[in-house]
Amino acid sequence: MRVLIEERIKKELRKREEQGNLRTLQPEKEGIDFFSNDYLGLARSKELAGLIEERYRALPRIRLGATGSRLLSGNSSLAMQLETQLAQLFQGEAALLFNSGYVANMALLSAVAQKGDVIIYDELVHASLREGYRLSFADRTAFRHNDLADLEYKIVQLQRSHPNGCLFVVTESVFSMDGDNAVLADMVALCQHYGVYLIIDEAHSTGIFGQGGSGLACQLNLHNHFLARVYTFGKAVGVHGACVVGSQWLIDYLVNFARPFIYSTALPDHTLVSIATAFDYIQAHPLLIEQLHRNIRYYCQAVQEIRLPSCVQLVCNQSPVQVVIVPGNASCKALARWLEKEGFLVLPILSPTVPAGMERLRICLHAFNTEEQICKLVETINQFFR
Ligand SMILES: Cc1ncc(COP(=O)(O)O)c(C=O)c1O
Repeated sequence: MRVLIEERIKKELRKREEQGNLRTLQPEKEGIDFFSNDYLGLARSKELAGLIEERYRALPRIRLGATGSRLLSGNSSLAMQLETQLAQLFQGEAALLFNSGYVANMALLSAVAQKGDVIIYDELVHASLREGYRLSFADRTAFRHNDLADLEYKIVQLQRSHPNGCLFVVTESVFSMDGDNAVLADMVALCQHYGVYLIIDEAHSTGIFGQGGSGLACQLNLHNHFLARVYTFGKAVGVHGACVVGSQWLIDYLVNFARPFIYSTALPDHTLVSIATAFDYIQAHPLLIEQLHRNIRYYCQAVQEIRLPSCVQLVCNQSPVQVVIVPGNASCKALARWLEKEGFLVLPILSPTVPAGMERLRICLHAFNTEEQICKLVETINQFFR
């Protein structure tokens, strides 16, 4: 008998509820922000908002929406100037704007990798990269997180099984749920050795590493070794949108074949002005990035002093994303609720977003968090387990 869609959908929702991981939209909460991706505090900066408004009002014409895709009525000198600014900042030949990081990743992978090719991705890459390889006609396989021996083994096998195709290795510079960095220098060397193409998602390092927030690849002077780099503006940059940086021929190809670029209305002028102004602001305020890194070091020192049960694992990273692994959806949610009651906003990341047993608190540190707030947060976590 044909299954009714309503029944099927309700069954799926019930299953989620029983597993303790039903997603629901929550009203805005009051508390100290240890959960947003606004790492530099730019999304809440009145000063930046004022500068954006000033520039927006000075534009010679009003165009609230882009009115079409970039290939139709939606292109503008504003968009093209911004792409020139971004290409310079990220030290690439050319840049192409996308409406979000999700769209950029999906568009890039689905367009570039073709039948006969293989995408080899770190097992922890973001959902948007997975969307991209699912939409492409290439084969795909995961390598163990940051495990270069496994990556090398897979490259050798896949070069044998796909003698005429291209191999693409896909990773993130800072992993969104774990906060650790990719081992970029070694990965670049490996990919060069085997002649495979490297693609990197810099979503959580844009604005945080490198001169002017140019990301980890630029900071490590490895930027020339990637086929494509994806930068997003909705996290540390405090606004919205994303871009792909690469050679001019890659960008020309995306303009012709990246379907989400071709068939979707472009970013509005206000967002273009916001992105340009936010990067100028980061360039003009290098102390913001310094303050963020000072807070990261402070947190890592503070957590050395606490003793947690052996099942709880505390991982310190060089990025703003810090992790306390509390196995089990129920325990992890209980800790997050306790922190909320004490005035801290911290998100529990539950399975299936992360594997069962690896449920965690994802603590986001910001330039605007005070040492006192960080100290109190760490103490409150300690109290929960005592
Ligand atoms: C690693 C990574 N890539 C891409 C994205 C998507 O970026 P956006 O929020 O701009 O769509 C995210 C967002 O959470 C992310 O964490």
